[in-house]
Amino acid sequence: MRSIENEIQELKQTHKALLLSHFYEDGDIQDLADEIGDSYFLAKRGQQSDAKVILLAGVVFMAESVKLLSPEKTVLVPDLAAGCSLVEHSPFDKYLEWRRAYPDSICITYINSSVAVKSISDVICTSSNAEKIIASIPPDRPILFGPDRNLGNFLMKRTGRKMIMWPGSCQVHVLFSSRELFLLKENYPRALVLAHPECNDEILSHADVIGSTSRLLDEVIQNRSVNEFIVATESGILHQMQKSRPEAKLIQAPMEGGSCGCNHCPFMKLNNLEKIRNSLRTLSPAIEVEERFQENARLALERMLKISSGESIQWPSKFSQ
Ligand code: 13P
Ligand code: SF4
Repeated sequence: MRSIENEIQELKQTHKALLLSHFYEDGDIQDLADEIGDSYFLAKRGQQSDAKVILLAGVVFMAESVKLLSPEKTVLVPDLAAGCSLVEHSPFDKYLEWRRAYPDSICITYINSSVAVKSISDVICTSSNAEKIIASIPPDRPILFGPDRNLGNFLMKRTGRKMIMWPGSCQVHVLFSSRELFLLKENYPRALVLAHPECNDEILSHADVIGSTSRLLDEVIQNRSVNEFIVATESGILHQMQKSRPEAKLIQAPMEGGSCGCNHCPFMKLNNLEKIRNSLRTLSPAIEVEERFQENARLALERMLKISSGESIQWPSKFSQ
């Protein structure tokens, strides 16, 4: 009998489809993907690819970003319910009200947001390019940052730039316990602590390396003088870390009570091989973005890509919606 993996490979060939996966997907999905990356890589790779069909094994905002940047492509997701708590914490009406209260500001919105929220933002960022985006904004312009408060606070400290913050957070990264992490570090004094900037401040204060998923993976790959790593981000990333350093000891950062296992993103984990196979069979569900938000949301994403590649930007003088 044909395995589901073989069936997916055949369907990919039939449709000349590109299968992109985020690092938080299960290992069997990552192993089947053509490319794996962080949210910035996935948006850029989706845009650059010649493939007419892209299946994004990740969450919906990632697939929407690919669709916005390449409206002519069919962009599939295995499960349309794969949302994100940051999207849930930033409803359009409230975000618009907040945006309108600071018309002279530049609004930087994290890519973990809805298309509607992107459309009322000046520029999008991910955790791998946010410092560059902030540095590109004239010093006399106030900055709004949303919807991840932990990432925003981390960036304020890193850049020394004051920002007005939207109060959202990631339901997965706020669960790590700094008390338990402190105790764990005593048991592994040589371990390097790696943390995603969506973690809260107390966790970040224990971290040796703070960065996007690809930055944390790079540290494990490159830093051969260290053999033990405590990882404070979603558990899916451990698959690539362990593959690239089989001899290294990888320890998941603990939750309250010392337990592990709640650091699974329930949205990412909605995806599985059956849904990917079905999606490639039926070419659905395909991402559609509301027309009224398309142009402005695309512009905000394109500004992110331009600044990331070193181009300068003409900022609008006022928010006028
Ligand atoms: P990265 O951009 O670091 O991959 O992060 C995406 C994300 O959703 C983290 O929770
Ligand atoms: Fe959203 Fe958090 Fe899941 Fe990332 S880990 S997709 S921020 S809920």
